[in-house]
Amino acid sequence: MTLDVALSALDEARWGVRSARALGVTADNLAQALDFCRAHDVVFLVARCPVSDLRGAQAMEQHGFLLMDTLLYFTRDLTMDTLPSPPLREGGLNRVVVRPARADEAETVGELAARAFAGYNGHYHADTRLDRAACDAVYRDWAVRSCLSQQVADKVLVAEADGRMAGFVTIKKRGDLGEGPLYGVEPAAHGRGIGGALMAAAMMWLKQRGARRMEMSTQVTNVPSQKVWVRLGFEPAHAEYTFHKWFDE
Ligand SMILES: CC(C)(COP(=O)(O)OP(=O)(O)OC[C@H]1O[C@@H](n2cnc3c(N)ncnc32)[C@H](O)[C@@H]1OP(=O)(O)O)[C@@H](O)C(=O)NCCC(=O)NCCS
Repeated sequence: MTLDVALSALDEARWGVRSARALGVTADNLAQALDFCRAHDVVFLVARCPVSDLRGAQAMEQHGFLLMDTLLYFTRDLTMDTLPSPPLREGGLNRVVVRPARADEAETVGELAARAFAGYNGHYHADTRLDRAACDAVYRDWAVRSCLSQQVADKVLVAEADGRMAGFVTIKKRGDLGEGPLYGVEPAAHGRGIGGALMAAAMMWLKQRGARRMEMSTQVTNVPSQKVWVRLGFEPAHAEYTFHKWFDE
């Protein structure tokens, strides 16, 4: 596996310390990742390692890395003629409309993301050194940036239920691979099938633009999200651990 390690300007801005991200860390390339961090005076490192490389995970533990979450990746073939409709739920979808977010709705989408992801089970919230409110703000800011910058997301779709914005999904297309990096539903509207309606619309948006496969990932603990995907024909693909290392400890 190839190591991909780089400074993270985004994490540095969020946490106020020199930060880096390392993807594809294994027992064999861990030393290289650590050398990079020391050479660049990195204080905070977010590192991902495939769960299949337990030796790598154990080596990271020996170097003082702390496990923050476990990500499950799911993929869905988009090439078949018909895509499934979201499962209908009683009293759920009959008044839900999914449509593109308007340019002037970035702040509204951001506020919705803040409510949907407050106290979320992700790797930032799992790190006791990171301020809770700042962890919540990550998702708000990410959603806003997704609405404003095509570098962050190609499209943002929103779900309207009973005339109010009740959910959103951000979409990114890289060649024939599509992703939905961030999606969430208003907490009061959970369990009505809105997440499924958003994912189905994202799949359709991507298929219509030539994507052949869609990939999603979430924490192993996020069973609601996994239920949404499995019901739409996604299959488990692979998994990764997320570790954090603080070099000033
Ligand atoms: C994940 C999420 C988008 C699902 O949206 P949704 O509109 O609630 O999805 P559905 O209505 O199709 O529900 C899917 C399943 O999850 C369950 N569920 C939804 N929210 C739940 C919650 N807060 N607690 C427990 N179960 C929940 C539903 O009951 C349903 O299971 P069931 O049919 O067996 O009862 C939504 O829960 C959410 O916004 N969560 C917080 C942010 C998040 O996790 N985003 C996804 C990151 S990958």
